[in-house]
Amino acid sequence: MDQAQAPVAVFDSGVGGVSVLRELVRCMPQEHFLYFGDSVHAPYGARSTQEVRALTLAAAKMLFDRGVKALVVACNTATAAAIEVLRSTWPEKIIVGIEPALKLAVERHMGGRVAVMGTSVTIREQKFHTLLERFRTDSEIIPLACPGLVELIEAGQTAGERVSGLLRQELESALDKPLDAVVLGCTHYPFVKKEIRRIVGERPEILDGGTGTARHTQHRLAEAGLLKDHGVGSVMIENSLDGKMVELSRRLLDAPWGENALANGSPP
Ligand code: DGL
Repeated sequence: MDQAQAPVAVFDSGVGGVSVLRELVRCMPQEHFLYFGDSVHAPYGARSTQEVRALTLAAAKMLFDRGVKALVVACNTATAAAIEVLRSTWPEKIIVGIEPALKLAVERHMGGRVAVMGTSVTIREQKFHTLLERFRTDSEIIPLACPGLVELIEAGQTAGERVSGLLRQELESALDKPLDAVVLGCTHYPFVKKEIRRIVGERPEILDGGTGTARHTQHRLAEAGLLKDHGVGSVMIENSLDGKMVELSRRLLDAPWGENALANGSPP
């Protein structure tokens, strides 16, 4: 089979990576995508680094065994814990990992105040500390782990009292002075962007790594001569938990562009 016709795998701990899948589909509508969410083991952000690494390796093996031509790790937590080991295990494969868009935020708001929301694993891993060291002289960077938020989004809650209460509590410490940017360093968070906007007000720019990751994937495929640049594309969604999670992923994928939230925020 022509390798260019093979699907691009997109992986996350659950439904969060659908926010990246949306950007990938927008950027490369003619590609076939195979999305795998590991909701049985979510949230990864509450696990040990070793556990996240083992789960990510197992998912990657399952996807490569199915003949995908590239793997997009649409999970900041899995990238932080496992991207090096993935690349050394499959050195010949195209593997793209999403990371918090801190560089972009600092470049656009030099000298400003930037909050970075991520999971506990992402915030504590060396990868993030290296990023922090690189940019902390240019801007004031405030890392925020948001325990409990991924669980709500996995339950289909993208709006409402529980989501806004949790966000308010997490963001409060960063809002004592005006913020210039908020980086969504977890792929689940774009689905609660409207709630975040309500709390931080109009001033800060809210950034995520989805678009950058999609463009980078397109570039890597083109470079390898593996772009499927004609014909009709498709999206197949699978989840380790159950069909309800596949349904929720579909609803999130089909939510209106730019809305980044389910219409009513109710559980599936
Ligand atoms: N969506 C994942 C990320 O980008 C993490 C969610 C989880 O904790 O499982 O970090």
